[in-house]
Amino acid sequence: AAFVAGVTAGAKLIVVSNREPCLHEHVADGIRMVRPASGMVTAIEPIIKAVGGTWVAHGSGTADRLVVDRRGRLGLPPEAPRYTLRRVWLSRKEEEGYYYGLANRALWPLCHTVYTRPYFSRAEWETYRSVNEKFRDAVLEEAEGGAAIVFIQDYHLALLPRLLKDVRPDLKILHFWHIPWPNPEAFRIFPWGEELIDGLLGNDLLGFHIQYHCNNFLDTVDRFIEARVDLEHFRVFRGGRPTWVRPFPISVDASQISRDAEGETVGRRLAGFLKELGEEHGKLSLFVGADRIDYTKGIPERLRGFDLMLQRHPELVGKVCFVQLAAPSRTHVEAYRHLNEQIDALVDEINWRHQTDDWTPVFFLRAHHDYYAVLAAYRMAQAVVVSSLHDGMNLVAKEFVAARNDGDGVLLLSRYTGAARELGDALLINPFDGDGLADAMYRACVMPEAERRERMERLRSQVERNTVYDWGLNVFAELERLLGQEENG
Ligand code: G6P
Repeated sequence: AAFVAGVTAGAKLIVVSNREPCLHEHVADGIRMVRPASGMVTAIEPIIKAVGGTWVAHGSGTADRLVVDRRGRLGLPPEAPRYTLRRVWLSRKEEEGYYYGLANRALWPLCHTVYTRPYFSRAEWETYRSVNEKFRDAVLEEAEGGAAIVFIQDYHLALLPRLLKDVRPDLKILHFWHIPWPNPEAFRIFPWGEELIDGLLGNDLLGFHIQYHCNNFLDTVDRFIEARVDLEHFRVFRGGRPTWVRPFPISVDASQISRDAEGETVGRRLAGFLKELGEEHGKLSLFVGADRIDYTKGIPERLRGFDLMLQRHPELVGKVCFVQLAAPSRTHVEAYRHLNEQIDALVDEINWRHQTDDWTPVFFLRAHHDYYAVLAAYRMAQAVVVSSLHDGMNLVAKEFVAARNDGDGVLLLSRYTGAARELGDALLINPFDGDGLADAMYRACVMPEAERRERMERLRSQVERNTVYDWGLNVFAELERLLGQEENG
């Protein structure tokens, strides 16, 4: 109903994020388009393809403005235009301060609270602010002369809502925070907390994945800033204007994934994997992980769990195998480089301990695997392991379930993901408890087929019930409802 009737009628949709939906990768025979490994892109792209509009993002290619077609390809003229991509250019220095620095060395660990110490630098904060201003200028140009709904994504752009609201109070601004929001005790060390929160209170509507993050945010506002927090209606008044705070559990396009999982491309990727692992390994019970190489994902923890399971159950030697698809990420940040080294050493150690002449326990495939390859990996899995130490939602869990049309497969899912609130039929794990993790992995090996199928059936109906389109509809319908309510006093 949004955009067609009511308060938002006729408004143009402008999505704003740091990461753009397609990356240009230079390969031997030219340039290849890749979809970045990003939960944010996975979720937002189907929405903007369905609604149309303009997506403003940090650019990696060469053109300032491009049209994106139905298949997510960039180019002019496209076969069927879906939306426009408007790029914001950043200098190396800006990227360093704003993206690697403030966003990923300060806010990312601060919000995930996973014992990686955030790093704060005033110069990076200033770059973060000036890059947010750059995004403001691009959005103002796109919104010139008409009504618009600005849909901001994530922690890279926390100051943008206020920057926009100050000059264009008529814009409808909503923001989805794709990562957790920490409790006030964790947040209080952030040196520019007041300005960050004030930035977010430029929004009309601010969404998190789960109620718990909304509560943390409201508690933080209460402690940090001069504002009236209305806990009954989950809103904050600052300067007389309200910002509503609501949970919207994000999801995936379940039926598209389910169709794609049957397709030829996935079949080819499956054959590719069997070649890479060796036919014999392909026949084993495979544990699969698919993540960016990020310290929040619990990759060493899951490998140690697997190691422990093998130590306790030597009968599994030669019968199981762990295949980890691992996309390099943010490698200019030291914590990520360390993690890569730590994982390499661990994989070596585990393989050395258990391997036999014709069997390797762990395959760590460090590469950017495309969407179809990831679906192929889900299809060959006996079990998929999502062992995040903390995660806003985690869409790997939902994609895996959507891809298993055969109704089989076990999901091991960290309790500390937003997804665990909806996917209670997974084997819920605590990644900090190595023994428990090893037990759960063993259970996945020996779980009777009937139980696997029952659980998977319930998981699938959950993911089909709340797709990313339901999420989008809920977000926009709630905006419409709240703005309507405000207009009518
Ligand atoms: C998370 C964040 C996204 C981000 C993605 C990939 O899902 O919430 O905003 O795009 O990680 O990280 P990157 O730094 O590569 O964009």
